[in-house]
Amino acid sequence: MEKVCVIGAGSTKYGKLDDSITDIAVQASVAAIESAGIKPKEIDAGYISNVFGIADKQVHLGPVIMSNLGISEKPSLSIESACGSGSVSFREAFANVAAGFYDAVLVTGVEKVTHTGTEWTTTYFSYCSDFFYEGQAGASFPGLFASMARAYLTEFNATEEDFAKVAVKNHENGLSNPKAHLRKKITVDDVMNSAVVASPLKLYDCCPFSDGASSVILCSEKFAKEHTKDYIQVIGSGRGGSPAALQGRNHLTTIPSTKLAAESAYKMAGLGPKDIDFAEVHDCFTIAEVVDSEDLGFFEKGQGAKAASEGRTKLNSEISINPSGGLKSKGHPIGATGVGQVVEVFDQLTGRAGEREVKDAKVGLTQNFGATGASCAVHIFQSV
Ligand SMILES: CC(C)(COP(=O)(O)OP(=O)(O)OC[C@H]1O[C@@H](n2cnc3c(N)ncnc32)[C@H](O)[C@@H]1OP(=O)(O)O)[C@@H](O)C(=O)NCCC(=O)NCCS
Repeated sequence: MEKVCVIGAGSTKYGKLDDSITDIAVQASVAAIESAGIKPKEIDAGYISNVFGIADKQVHLGPVIMSNLGISEKPSLSIESACGSGSVSFREAFANVAAGFYDAVLVTGVEKVTHTGTEWTTTYFSYCSDFFYEGQAGASFPGLFASMARAYLTEFNATEEDFAKVAVKNHENGLSNPKAHLRKKITVDDVMNSAVVASPLKLYDCCPFSDGASSVILCSEKFAKEHTKDYIQVIGSGRGGSPAALQGRNHLTTIPSTKLAAESAYKMAGLGPKDIDFAEVHDCFTIAEVVDSEDLGFFEKGQGAKAASEGRTKLNSEISINPSGGLKSKGHPIGATGVGQVVEVFDQLTGRAGEREVKDAKVGLTQNFGATGASCAVHIFQSV
């Protein structure tokens, strides 16, 4: 297997954006290409993640992006894996570079949905659940994650205030991220007094609907060394699956796909949870970050909420979780999210993170899942 590196990264701002889905995808791609210091024609292939291109009248985004970059002859693959599309796209790109098929590839994730409004976006997103058992029965994602939150509160010694502290921490981190969607300091009282969306989850327990695009350039170690000194290495990659509908799972307080993906990523990297300096995890709702922090092995089962509440996941604490602000504050343009996590890791490990820098960080991890964790990918990176 070839060693695989990330040599460039770029994102648009996340939030409500006016430009078209194609324009924002191209803006992020150009930013990544420029950051890598390469020419578009040096890219061998494109991996494009997106879920609801149809909402902005553009599917089959791969060739459209490659054409806009002036490399229409290069092959591309458009990938949909719900909210986990970005990391699945990254994984496919990783596997192809590792196998020696390509020297350098573009991975771009993009989503443009806010113009459809909350009712429509909620309906579209419910098509990512196991629609027969969940979406069709009226269970939206806030409702499904509320079931997980209720189960956690019942099973463990945790409170809604513990969940609120996850949101407060992520909003604090997002304040120093100029690309973040919701840049606003909040308190536990703000969370507790915000409108109930699906009990026990309130407005500030939820990520927003966001538009946005993120890109990275992945390449072989040889290509990286020939082009730059400023790169990071992908040292672990894992994927896993879970029963698509919550009703098919034995427990609501763990996500099997995360555990499986983490196990194989740790094994490939030859590392364990204690070796991770910071992690970008899938906090679509505050309960998700709590469960992720346990499934990734940072805390014992049932201890994640208390750990967050005690400040053990804050920037430059025991383990910095979501230094970017996470999905909660940075935003969640679903096709872009998994790629955006890698952009943050690249920025952190190459000294570009500014005020939100994780001090002396050498190893970062990303975890991004689709739906309620029906699919998941975990990646581990180290500075060189
Ligand atoms: C929480 C949610 C229901 C709020 O939708 P809404 O009530 O229609 O909110 P609006 O878009 O009308 O925004 C109203 C205000 O709340 C703010 N807001 C919206 N969502 C927010 C969120 N998640 N957190 C904090 N503030 C939010 C908006 O910025 C706006 O503020 P303003 O009035 O100061 O401009 C919606 O964001 C949601 O469903 N989020 C979850 C998305 C999801 O399921 N993703 C997939 C995960 S698997």
